Amino acid sequence: MRQQIAAANWKMNLTYSQAEQLLDNLLSKEYNLNANRKVVLAVPFPYLKLAVDKVNGKQGIFIAAQNCNTKKSGAYTGETSVEMLQSLSVNYVVLGHSERREYFNESNAFLAEKVNLVLESNLTPIFCCGESLDIREAGTQNEFVTVQLTESLFHLTAEQITKVVIAYEPIWAIGTGKTASSQQAQDIHEHIRNSFAEHYGQKVANEISILYGGSVKGNNAAELFAMADVDGGLVGGASLNADEFATIINALK
Ligand code: PGA
Repeated sequence: MRQQIAAANWKMNLTYSQAEQLLDNLLSKEYNLNANRKVVLAVPFPYLKLAVDKVNGKQGIFIAAQNCNTKKSGAYTGETSVEMLQSLSVNYVVLGHSERREYFNESNAFLAEKVNLVLESNLTPIFCCGESLDIREAGTQNEFVTVQLTESLFHLTAEQITKVVIAYEPIWAIGTGKTASSQQAQDIHEHIRNSFAEHYGQKVANEISILYGGSVKGNNAAELFAMADVDGGLVGGASLNADEFATIINALK
């Protein structure tokens, strides 16, 4: 059965004490989590150890890094390796967020290298894809997203692809307060699942979790998550507020 996931993306926000307080607030609440309904918190690198220690023993709550390097180790000042993440018991790595694609020029081919390394190390990639406003207005979003998936993921085996979590995030909806309608989200999620089905077969495609991201809030999460091919969300702004993010977690199917 595919997993329903509420993932928080804190991005480059919060001081250490604010991060600690947010984690304490979030973890003081009750959630109905299990093997198929999970929470993943993508926190900034300096707070990974804190977050891993805080969630230790809490069922269904996992920690993610927001990025990693393509190299295993070496003279790459300022970078973070997958081995470092593994040694901290981090379980997930967000890859290819549109902000990394835009500000750090991460290409589909470069992201394929990161996906390979993360899977080799038995961590789970949360692979982000999604189109800009001009592509949406031109009506070519399905084709655009298929190219992202083809160039970064379709070299993987069927066994590997079921270990990847997809986050579809239309760039025009990120941080803008402008959410895709639940039907727009469903339409492209269905397209993404069909692309996997064409490549790997329907059975494999049905196992892949596809999260929606882009201005998910407490008041729209339930409607988005209720759609057949929306398996939860990747949440930026609203994940910085414990009450709001708790509402989003409780909106998971
Ligand atoms: P947002 O960000 O929820 O603030 O729109 C989502 C994301 O970028 O992952």
